[in-house]
Amino acid sequence: MIKVAVVSGKGGVGKTTIAVSLALALAKSGFKVGLVDADVTGSNVPDILGRVELGVSDRDTLIPAISRGVKYVSIGQIASDGKPVLWDPKDVRSAARQLLERTDWGDIDYLIFDFPPGFEAETIELLPLMDYVLIVTIPSMLSKSKVLRMVEACREYERPIIGVIMNMSYVECPSCGYRHIIFAEDHSFEEFGIPTIAELPLSHEIAVNKLVNEFPLDKFLEGINNPVILKKKRISISKLVELAFKVM
Ligand SMILES: Nc1ncnc2c1ncn2[C@@H]1O[C@H](COP(=O)(O)OP(=O)(O)OP(=O)(O)O)[C@@H](O)[C@H]1O
Ligand SMILES: [Mg+2]
Repeated sequence: MIKVAVVSGKGGVGKTTIAVSLALALAKSGFKVGLVDADVTGSNVPDILGRVELGVSDRDTLIPAISRGVKYVSIGQIASDGKPVLWDPKDVRSAARQLLERTDWGDIDYLIFDFPPGFEAETIELLPLMDYVLIVTIPSMLSKSKVLRMVEACREYERPIIGVIMNMSYVECPSCGYRHIIFAEDHSFEEFGIPTIAELPLSHEIAVNKLVNEFPLDKFLEGINNPVILKKKRISISKLVELAFKVM
């Protein structure tokens, strides 16, 4: 089972849209796919795939709901009455872990995780357990500044990065096809060698469907085969000695 985190560092950039679209695209290609709504306090996956109550097996494990071949679990299917999840962060961490570990996934090729916006309890709990990370952002400096911290977290945990999905990159004129660039800021992650998997438009179709119909699956699979692993910054012995002399 390959665990893929869909993360950003920034809210509202399309993580859930991408996570669900990726899961559906993988299922359509014949892979066995699960989807974990790892945004425990801000769950959105059931809003797209349907709010089906989860079953519980004799062994006290969760039986995931299924939509278009994708098995999915979300706290939104358990506490589904629209109440806010006002939990202690340690309970949020535990819930995130249980969605992964106490679900009857069966035979799965890819398990996709829709992460919360930043370094919430769910991120702290689950990020170190991921096999790969897919970054979603928009081409704005305010987004990049936050996503850079997520890139550094991937470095800290030495998690392989598949690449970046640059969402809401342009708006295409429906009559002439001209691509209007809205943000037009320096936004790539090339300085880290992290490839851009796709530049997706800000489109009425995506907004209405809440899905990207033409998900770039080939590029995603290419990234899985050739991920970027940023090495942890280790302090050298000579640097340590230098620091030790400074404090003496
Ligand atoms: N490319 C796009 N074009 C148009 N609308 C989009 C696009 N991507 C996402 N949206 C819309 O933008 C909103 C935010 O998307 P989404 O909920 O997927 O972001 P998110 O990063 O998961 O947010 P959060 O940080 O709150 O979890 C949604 O209404 C979604 O339908
Ligand atoms: Mg979301």
